[in-house]
Amino acid sequence: RTLRIGLIPGDGIGKEVIPAGRRVLEALPASLGLKFEFVDLQAGFETFEQTGAALPDKTVEVLKRECDGALFGAVSSPTKAVKGYSSPIVALRKKLDLYANVRPVKTVLTAAKPIDMVIVRENTEDLYVKEEKTFDTPEGKVAEAIKRISQRASSRIATIAGEIALRRQNIRAAGAPSIHQGPLVTITHKSNVLSQTDGLFRTTAREALADPRFKDVAVEEQIVDSMVYKLFRQPEAYDVIVAPNLYGDILSDGAAALVGSLGLVPSANVGEGFAIGEPCHGSAPDIMGQGIANPIATLRSAALMLEFLDEEAAAAKIYAAVDANLEEGRLLSPDLGGTAKTEEVVQDILRRI
Ligand code: NAI
Ligand code: MG
Repeated sequence: RTLRIGLIPGDGIGKEVIPAGRRVLEALPASLGLKFEFVDLQAGFETFEQTGAALPDKTVEVLKRECDGALFGAVSSPTKAVKGYSSPIVALRKKLDLYANVRPVKTVLTAAKPIDMVIVRENTEDLYVKEEKTFDTPEGKVAEAIKRISQRASSRIATIAGEIALRRQNIRAAGAPSIHQGPLVTITHKSNVLSQTDGLFRTTAREALADPRFKDVAVEEQIVDSMVYKLFRQPEAYDVIVAPNLYGDILSDGAAALVGSLGLVPSANVGEGFAIGEPCHGSAPDIMGQGIANPIATLRSAALMLEFLDEEAAAAKIYAAVDANLEEGRLLSPDLGGTAKTEEVVQDILRRI
């Protein structure tokens, strides 16, 4: 099978880590029967300054027509609003209907408190439909925003969360060491207060996960505020967490803090038959150009993209090589307390693959 992958480095350290993602994909053993073709594509603030568009139409067209998946680095956002500029990754998620944002948060098994969870965030609706308005009243201005929750979006996000839980269980069954016993999905909401919107999310997610295919998946619920508490006190308790857009956004950044460095945390934006791997970090202007960015978030994002393209064995190779590098702890980048350059970390992981 040949996979055609779009490469969108973006800005800052995106340009340093995306090439590493490409090299790791190219280094996968031929025995997997997997070949790659890469297409270089543009997006980001630099692209905006050069062309007037943060996300050129060509990038979207090529992804839609020619690619199976993509790797996206990071983009810089100006601190002040710049006319005509808006985030290309947000636009890409919309244009390609990448309805799930998937963020695994995992430590090595030898960590003092090992954790291994995935946050599955609904990516298309909730408060982020951005239908806001401000109006004047005798007491001053009032602003309102629409929180939209649909049965369709809630059902498909819960379904993919169930599928992810099953896949994780299969990977464990294949011998990958894990802290979890069986597959578990935790539905996050605040339906005690928002009985209609979060209530619909909750009941729809419950229904979707009641499908016979998920009969081996345990399902539990957690109110989002107590979830934050438990996430920090007892992170090892979670396997797959599914949440509406806003809670998922907050939980996934919070959970990333549990593993020490943003340089470790991957994500994927997933739609029907398409996935974009994207490290969670930004363009890191404070370290760009020094060759010290941690490539691991990107390498794990490449593996995650492969999982959603049904190439689990290839993904597992990358995960294992990254984990081995971290377990050994000899070649670590400065964000993890080491002195290794990006290139040395990449070389070590390539050698292990
Ligand atoms: P950031 O994630 O770029 O950096 C935060 C801190 O983490 C910095 O000290 C940075 O050096 C460090 N860091 C991040 N990734 C690292 C890596 N791979 N290896 C080692 N250290 C790493 O977030 P910040 O500084 O808030 O934002 C910088 C720019 O990135 C802004 O323009 C922001 O808008 C943009 N951004 C873009 C995102 C995206 O493209 N998805 C996400 C977050 C921020
Ligand atoms: Mg966020």
